Amino acid sequence: MDRQVIQAIKQRLNIVDVVRRYVALRPGGGRQMGFCPFHQEKTASFSVNETEGFFYCFGCGVGGDVIDFYQRINGLEFKDALEQLASEAGVDIGDFRPDPEYDARQRLKKSCLEMHTAAQEYYRSNLNLAAGDASRAYLRRRGMNDGIVSAFGLGASSDDWQGLANFLKGRGFESDEAVRAGLLSQKEGGGRAYDRFRGRLIFPIQNLSGQVIAFGGRVLTDGEPKYLNSSDTPIYKKGEHLYGLFQARQAMTRSKRAILTEGYMDVLSLHQFGYVDACGVLGTALTQDQVKRVAGFCSRMVLVFDGDGAGRKAALRSAEMILQYGVSCSVVRLPDGEDVDSLLQTRGKEGFDVCLDDAVDGLDYCFSVVRDGFAPREIVAWANGFLAHLADNSLRPFYIPRLAQGLGLAEADLRRFGAGQGRLDAGTTNRAPSGQARGRDKRRDAPRAPAVGSEERDDRYFLRLPIQYPEYVPELAKRGFEALLTTDFGRELWRKLAQAGVDDVLPDLSQEEKSFWADTRSKDKPEGDDLTQEWLHVCRRIENAGVRRSREDLMDQIRAATSRGDAEEVKRLMAALTDLNAPSREEE
Ligand code: UTP
Ligand code: MN
Repeated sequence: MDRQVIQAIKQRLNIVDVVRRYVALRPGGGRQMGFCPFHQEKTASFSVNETEGFFYCFGCGVGGDVIDFYQRINGLEFKDALEQLASEAGVDIGDFRPDPEYDARQRLKKSCLEMHTAAQEYYRSNLNLAAGDASRAYLRRRGMNDGIVSAFGLGASSDDWQGLANFLKGRGFESDEAVRAGLLSQKEGGGRAYDRFRGRLIFPIQNLSGQVIAFGGRVLTDGEPKYLNSSDTPIYKKGEHLYGLFQARQAMTRSKRAILTEGYMDVLSLHQFGYVDACGVLGTALTQDQVKRVAGFCSRMVLVFDGDGAGRKAALRSAEMILQYGVSCSVVRLPDGEDVDSLLQTRGKEGFDVCLDDAVDGLDYCFSVVRDGFAPREIVAWANGFLAHLADNSLRPFYIPRLAQGLGLAEADLRRFGAGQGRLDAGTTNRAPSGQARGRDKRRDAPRAPAVGSEERDDRYFLRLPIQYPEYVPELAKRGFEALLTTDFGRELWRKLAQAGVDDVLPDLSQEEKSFWADTRSKDKPEGDDLTQEWLHVCRRIENAGVRRSREDLMDQIRAATSRGDAEEVKRLMAALTDLNAPSREEE
């Protein structure tokens, strides 16, 4: 189903048009080139191939199709990226889905969004009425200016139990729908629905399109809880969004930096003091979804958590997650008892700049926490856990020597530890949940051979031909191309190429496969005589690989027959082996 949607989107959206919204492109070498938005660089190594519909960065190796690009740059889940691009391209996903609940779900989401828009309007207008007196006074006391109040759409909820309820009713919304949207509450077993947020300063939470999807509300007296947040709804899931990311996203793409902090007020203060690339993790520990989302906009994250014990622990876990995702990070240590907001308000920009300059490298920060507080075997376990959860095995060579050096461990020991496939997938997760793909997922937990060595290089070499010339795939398959491949990576990629034939294979590939595919497609193809030579060479190698395999089979059988004591059989097998080894068939 997704496949058809993907193809329909690709037919209607030009990848160059989409990329241009984020990256300035110039033609060069038969493609469009620009500065990679996914890593920091001084020369333009990011390429977009318009005719073939893919992008590839020669610097950092990310590659994929228009949906990958959109997903990555906006930090979206695959499904969300697909939905947004489909609506942009005028592709009706409903047409492709014989799912009766799909429409109902979409309708529910739509009405949730509409109710949030209405609620936002209500809270905002309250702020300038008597109902907003306390909130206005509070904002003034906390030093927030009008620009910030309006950029973040702050509002106020009145003390009234039926304020929003009446407002929504007036707009024609049903109260049970408003309860489902998390805006109204209802006692268990029914009863009249009432306002969830009362007598609070209201912080709207927006998604990346700027739509309001949830609220946070701060008490103005000493009530409990200090902050009340929306619960999960059809349009909001705790831990997926970041406060202020919508306001900060463009500044982040420019600075390539994201300042991550804990609180609502911290974000507002940072923006007011000119740190417009700041956003907030919204009360929970930083989650992988959030890392993924922010990583679309920056290559460096700066963690600014409270100086207390809980803040330090949160910083360790957060730094780990960011580094495992392949994004660099640093940790700002605040003076004891301060948070960003209090620091800015008392010591101003200069005070915070000093802290920023003193920030420690994220990996060094992890090392110091681990070295100081962990027992030796916990240190080893931490290092192995860190490696096991890398988003991408290609990060191993980067981290292994650093971990060894920083923690006093042996590189060889770290290397020996099984390279599990990362818990985070740096790019898209598998899109086509075919039977085989699911089978592959099962294997994920098993330790894999580390992605290094000459075997994989050989596989990559052989796979160039079918990737550059998909029209040869059926013939190569018939001749037994698979026998050439010796690694999981190679065999898995070949399986997908063979399955796709001349169709678009990109949607089926993992991030690592996409990167290799795009790299190969970006290189010059052999033509004319060179192509003929290449073809003959590969065919010869297939034949030889077949012979080698038969020889190994025969040797196995000979060993078995020998241990059975079956002399007749041994003799027959030896003869077959001699035939196979005839000089005319010898390998080059
Ligand atoms: P803090 O308790 O550190 O508050 O919570 P704060 O941000 O400094 O708030 P102010 O300055 O007193 O206004 C940090 C963040 O944790 C979440 C909020 O996102 C808050 O900004 N939080 C805290 C909640 O969600 N609920 C709570 O009851 C408390
Ligand atoms: Mn605070």
